[in-house]
Amino acid sequence: MRKTMTEAELYSVYKGVYVPKGLHPPECLKYYEEFNFRQDDILIATYPKSGTTWMQEIVPLIQSEGDLTPVQTIPNWDRVPWLEEHRASILNLEERPSPRIFATHFHYNMMPESFFKVKPKVLYVLRNPKDIFTSSFHYYGMASFLVNPGAVDEFMEKFLNGKVMFGSWFDHVKGWIHAKDQEHILYIFYEEMIMDLKESVRKLSCFMGKSLSEEVIEKISDHCVFKNMKQNKMSNYSLVPTEFFDQKKSEFLRKGIVGDWRNTLTTAQSDNFDTVYKEKMKDVKFKFFWD
Ligand code: A3P
Repeated sequence: MRKTMTEAELYSVYKGVYVPKGLHPPECLKYYEEFNFRQDDILIATYPKSGTTWMQEIVPLIQSEGDLTPVQTIPNWDRVPWLEEHRASILNLEERPSPRIFATHFHYNMMPESFFKVKPKVLYVLRNPKDIFTSSFHYYGMASFLVNPGAVDEFMEKFLNGKVMFGSWFDHVKGWIHAKDQEHILYIFYEEMIMDLKESVRKLSCFMGKSLSEEVIEKISDHCVFKNMKQNKMSNYSLVPTEFFDQKKSEFLRKGIVGDWRNTLTTAQSDNFDTVYKEKMKDVKFKFFWD
């Protein structure tokens, strides 16, 4: 039975948001703040559970023009490292050839100074927050470095108030969709990737300046479809010891569908979520896929 640990025990607060202590020690956050972007870097920015791992598979495959070697030989966390995580500082990212590919869960206003000067390419992935909530609920139950979610109501209260790792989904999304200089940002929805993965790969490769044949697009899409990607041990987190991820409780690549919130939330819980959503997003003009 997992011991229930509290936010104070497991998280630290960085620029107003919770981050898991062990993954983001102060020296790695310093490395992050001083990080120097290149203009042709590609940064995958996401609120957790929006489809980060999926993009860590697709984007390197677009870059390698469908050669599966990088995704079959390098774990996703080294292939596309999170800049704010402890591993970034030991991977010699400065030596990597361009275009480098990174990930981040940080908010727009938490980007390091060089980001605003250099303006690297950003791929910002959005997903229906009720599905993010549902995915997170299962994830918090299996990851030992996160606070146990408790009951759905309890976790929803925290999620809607941003008392979870990387803070509020609402603030994250609002920050990124209102970013300045949007010509270097591509917004893509998890739901559109589910609906038409080939079209999404086309869209991503076009933004990345890669002209791929239909055959290569087909190959990448086929490899990245949920049931196939789930088999890739370099991406399904099976290399992570059970003491961190207990995938017997819930797999990391869990269901990979749209609308699973319907299996988790009661009508009352869903209504509560919608009320808060409407209030927090009332001034937002952006067109969301789920609207
Ligand atoms: P579910 O828990 O709803 O299944 P992240 O990588 O940002 O943490 O997001 C994880 C979510 O993306 C999980 O959602 C996971 O199953 C889903 N996912 C990962 N790879 C996917 C793929 N190839 N196709 C569809 N969903 C995928």
